[in-house]
Amino acid sequence: MTHTAFEQTLAEAVALARLAPSSHNCQPWAVHFDPVIHCGYLAIDNRRKLTGLPSLEREMLLSCGIFFHFLEQLIYLRGYQLHWRWCDEQEQQVLAGEDRALIRFMPGPEQAHQATAFATLSEQLQQRHTVRSAYRSTLLSEQQRNELSTVLKPYPVTLGIYYQQTHGKALAHLTQTYAGLDFANKAAWRETYSYIRFDERRQYEDGFYLHNLFGPVSGGFKTFFKVAFHPHLSGLNKLLRLPTKMAQGLAELVETGPHYLALNVSKEGDEALFRAGLGLGALWLKLQQWGWAMHPISVLVQHDSAREALATSLSQSELPIFFARFGEPEQSGSPAPRRHWQSILVSDTHSLTKSTPTQRE
Ligand SMILES: Cc1cc2nc3c(=O)[nH]c(=O)nc-3n(C[C@H](O)[C@H](O)[C@H](O)COP(=O)(O)O)c2cc1C
Repeated sequence: MTHTAFEQTLAEAVALARLAPSSHNCQPWAVHFDPVIHCGYLAIDNRRKLTGLPSLEREMLLSCGIFFHFLEQLIYLRGYQLHWRWCDEQEQQVLAGEDRALIRFMPGPEQAHQATAFATLSEQLQQRHTVRSAYRSTLLSEQQRNELSTVLKPYPVTLGIYYQQTHGKALAHLTQTYAGLDFANKAAWRETYSYIRFDERRQYEDGFYLHNLFGPVSGGFKTFFKVAFHPHLSGLNKLLRLPTKMAQGLAELVETGPHYLALNVSKEGDEALFRAGLGLGALWLKLQQWGWAMHPISVLVQHDSAREALATSLSQSELPIFFARFGEPEQSGSPAPRRHWQSILVSDTHSLTKSTPTQRE
């Protein structure tokens, strides 16, 4: 079977864009491409998406947005501009199967490659990891602040930036108060726990090892964590006050900052959330270019009570969709498992309708 130059480019780009961050590292994306009509679509793979809390649907859209931002950039540097648009309801129904179609795309004519920029981006994507440990107290300069705002200009999001000195204590207090919600909701904790990988010698395709979450850990800690936090033993772990202790550990990290960012969407709806994800992808890459990193603290935006308290604490009238601490990390993070690109990219010759996207909205 022969593949066109674009199909090869798409495969190469998927193999790098799959390094995008996603909630619980569930990597909920699927890319369908029809080689006959030369048109494809990006979807949420319903078998892979998180369902433990209703608010996780928002994180699936954000995660797919980040993934598509990386994909689009890579393909652009390989000489193809992707024209894409949000799927309307009719298309979503036609394309419905295991997946929920989000956008349709088609490549423009091949143009000049930007090989050096492609290599740089590829390197950045491979170096980028979520960093959950200590950050240096490096200041965020006015210029850096402006760069972050500029990066987000094309997207329907507003960025709020806050500092350890002014907000650290209050945000730590919020985390201490609300982080226990992660364990309190049985369905949510069962789902989170199912993504924790205890056997470091085994290759997984998603989720995180304990060292991704806590740095190097002993065999004893692994066994303790596996048993003590098992969802069936929630009575025992409450008795041992483990949720409170975990919340305290996270609160202490949050207090160290050194900086925090909150994103709000300036429009309603799923398309706006997806586009916010594109912006979040661009923001994450900008931090990576500086050698900086991010540690999302999603428990503060996943539950209504926590989200409202966060908005109040940040003096915002709108409820944030994403919250993270960020800065220059003392140590880089470690790679988390990834799906194989062939399980993400599906060649489809029958499910696409005739209408093709003609321009980016
Ligand atoms: C929308 C979103 C929410 C996330 N929330 C959290 C979080 O609350 N806590 C956390 O430690 N990591 C969070 N992460 C980071 C993911 O766990 C991380 O991207 C994933 O495990 C893959 O690891 P990597 O980013 O190092 O490649 C989030 C990522 C995304 C995209």
